[in-house]
Amino acid sequence: MMKQIAQYEGRLLNHVETLYRPGERDLAIELVEALGCTVTDTGFKGDGVDTFLAVHPNRDDQNAQNNVFYMSQIRPEQMAIEERLRRFSVEDDGFAADLERYRHAARTKPFGVPHFSLRYRSGQEVRDVADRIHASLKTKLESRLNMRIFAPGDEDAAVGNLVQGFLYQDVVVSGSFLMGQLIELQTLP
Ligand SMILES: [Fe+2]
Repeated sequence: MMKQIAQYEGRLLNHVETLYRPGERDLAIELVEALGCTVTDTGFKGDGVDTFLAVHPNRDDQNAQNNVFYMSQIRPEQMAIEERLRRFSVEDDGFAADLERYRHAARTKPFGVPHFSLRYRSGQEVRDVADRIHASLKTKLESRLNMRIFAPGDEDAAVGNLVQGFLYQDVVVSGSFLMGQLIELQTLP
C-alpha cells in the first residue's frame, strides 16, 4: 500500500493559503485542475463570502490538513490595497514600468521570485501539464498567464538534472494579484 501523508508524524511544510478574485472561483478551480490537482470543498467559511477549497497535489491522498493548499476569495481589506495599487499603476508611468520589469523577470528568470512548488513524477508529466494549459487556459487568460519550462541542457537551467516548469499567473495568488504568483512544477531529481 502506498504511504499516506497522515502516517508521517514529523514536522513538515503544512499548507499554503491562496486567494482568487471575486467571480473567479471557477477559473481558479480550472487552473489547479489543469495542474493535475484535485479540489475538495472544506465547507469552512471563516469570515469569507464562500467556502475554502482544498487543493490536493495527490488525488490518491486527499488529506485536508497536509500537503495541500487552500483557495478562498480575497477579503475586502486586501481588495482595497490591490485596487489602490492598480489605479496607481495606471496613473504613474514609473510605477507601471517597474511593474512590467518585475513581470518580465517572473516570466523569464523566476529563480529569485517568490513561489511555491509542486512535485511531479517525471518531466513528461510537467510537459503534459504545460500542453493542457496551453490548450485551454492560455487562450482565455492571454497575458495573465505564462508557462516556461527549463530542461537539463538548457543554457539558463538552474539545476542540471531537473525539469522545472514555471507558471506565472494572477488567478491564484498567495500574495498580491498585481504582482501575480509563480507556481513551480518540479520533477524528482
Ligand atoms: Fe523553486
